[in-house]
Amino acid sequence: MRMHKTRLPDAAARNRQTCRLHCAVVAGILFLSGCRGIQSTLDPQGPQADEIARIAWVMFWGAGFILLLVMALALATLFRTPSQRRPVSANVFIIAGGVALPVITLTALLIYGVDAMRSLRATAEPTAQIEVVGNRWWWDVHYRDPDGHAITSANEIRIPAGKPVKVLVRTNDVIHSFWVPNLAGKIDLIPGRSNHIVLHANAPGQFRGQCAEFCGAQHARMAFHVIAQAPEAHAAWLAQQRMPATAPADRLSLRGQEVFLARCAQCHTVRGVSEGAKRAPDLTHLASRQFIAAGTLENNRQNLIAFVSRSQEIKPGSDMPSHSDLDDATLQALASYLESLK
Ligand code: CUA
Repeated sequence: MRMHKTRLPDAAARNRQTCRLHCAVVAGILFLSGCRGIQSTLDPQGPQADEIARIAWVMFWGAGFILLLVMALALATLFRTPSQRRPVSANVFIIAGGVALPVITLTALLIYGVDAMRSLRATAEPTAQIEVVGNRWWWDVHYRDPDGHAITSANEIRIPAGKPVKVLVRTNDVIHSFWVPNLAGKIDLIPGRSNHIVLHANAPGQFRGQCAEFCGAQHARMAFHVIAQAPEAHAAWLAQQRMPATAPADRLSLRGQEVFLARCAQCHTVRGVSEGAKRAPDLTHLASRQFIAAGTLENNRQNLIAFVSRSQEIKPGSDMPSHSDLDDATLQALASYLESLK
């Protein structure tokens, strides 16, 4: 009985220890997995992002080293016995710790940072040009195909993998910031100015971008995706995007097109059907995109209907009105038409 009693705390302690170990392992895995992903500066997927991640790690380890040094000095001071303490001139501390150390470390960091910045700019001459225009709260994307034809899309940017791509950025309203953490740094979209940034993905893949400058109520829902494709696939995609919209193939979609012309065409362009409206995203090839409402919802029938009928609940304050008066049959027809815009 006694043995039993003395053993119990041991077992409990062992259990607690095992639990702590498990928790630490799980936390470690979660911590490390947090660095991976389609929107992470710690998972660089191109030369620009590599350089930025390197700067961040140098800063992190440098700051960590200085923190440890300061802590060690503080502990040494605390635990020294009075007999071990020797008076040190205040001037030595001020000159060594307050002037020399910061000047040396900050100068070294400045030289390293400026050099890294130069190598960020000195990439090979970018191949294709894409123009991205920020709007509250979506991204207008313009391409030129090899023959010089203009192609317009929204909230999804496709680039050829393995090549630097120059992206010009402008804004139609307030300041936004264009950021694809896996591929490059941030660049601000400033009213009255045109900026540029280079996106360069090592290999095909999909990445998430986000507006990184507070721009109003739906700033958080001003996202986009960058899809890096093999060059041949990208050329084929461009050729397909250049085509006008496909005509509705069935009665339901035809009815949907009528609804679109009556309700949506004032703001949305579908090339070949209603041209010239620039207030809202170009929907000519909407069905080829993976998300709607600037990265907010996956592009499927349920979400299309939800966004058309309840946009002000999903993205309050956006220019898109809720078409809550449309009945289910009409919404189904409209969604069927939108899904046909491949
Ligand atoms: Cu646009 Cu925040």
